[in-house]
Amino acid sequence: MAHIHARPPEGAAADWTIPQDWSAYTPQDHGVWDRLFARQAAMLPGRVVPEFLEGLDMLRMTKPGVPDFEELSERLMRRTGWQVVAVPGLVPDRVFFKHLANRRFVAGRFIRTPEQLDYLEEPDVFHDVFGHVPLLAHPVFADYMQAYGEGGLRAERMGAIERLARLYWYTVEFGLIRQDGELRLYGAGIVSSHGESIFALDDPSPNRLGFDLRRLMRTQYRIDDYQQSYFVIDSFEDLLRQTVETDFAPLYRELEGTDDLEADAVLPEDRVYTLGTQERTAP
Ligand code: PHE
Ligand code: FE
Repeated sequence: MAHIHARPPEGAAADWTIPQDWSAYTPQDHGVWDRLFARQAAMLPGRVVPEFLEGLDMLRMTKPGVPDFEELSERLMRRTGWQVVAVPGLVPDRVFFKHLANRRFVAGRFIRTPEQLDYLEEPDVFHDVFGHVPLLAHPVFADYMQAYGEGGLRAERMGAIERLARLYWYTVEFGLIRQDGELRLYGAGIVSSHGESIFALDDPSPNRLGFDLRRLMRTQYRIDDYQQSYFVIDSFEDLLRQTVETDFAPLYRELEGTDDLEADAVLPEDRVYTLGTQERTAP
């Protein structure tokens, strides 16, 4: 396989970061943020983990307009030592992992247009910042994200990025959690999407299965529609403990001999919260 040594684009630093250039946002840009924010803020209470709402509050993300990354970083730094930095778009895996390992969350700075409120192919600042940043104010989740970055650098050396990417997908992006006997949202891909915030909890279509590290590393995922399966963790502490205390190297090797699982698979050993009808994706 060829190794691609991608270089940062013109105007970006060696670590691929660029200035956010906050003053360049137009009134329309801020208006789009405000509309998206208002819609999610009205819907999420009772659905999302309270830790997310506390993060929004603590970081003063409740004030109107696209957040200024410097202000956000200052608050976040005091709380958990994280920062938010702007990048031009998708960055190479290693660059991404390195930033995470150093407690820097990389975010797109552009925002969708009013015509794209519900669907967008690339993550914009609303997904990246509204979706991901509030939980970075939570000490345990903050540690998980850093550990993930370090794990990414290791996985890269072991040729196991795809396995590790599934862990990110099914936790950081599309994770559910059980709190006081109830399922709640915490994944950024869900909470930044109006439709999926409802679908992931209420729709009969998807499976909702207990988190199992090894199982999840074998599971494919969809990038073109809502998920067919969501995985439910018991707590952030438990997620951190399980992933940090497990050496993934033997796991990666062991999994080399196994087949991947389809995104809608349900196994006899799965802890099933909801057995999905899969009617959304039925032929
Ligand atoms: N324990 C993992 C490893 O051995 C690192 C890791 C921690 C990965 C937390 C993801 C999340 O590679
Ligand atoms: Fe994301």
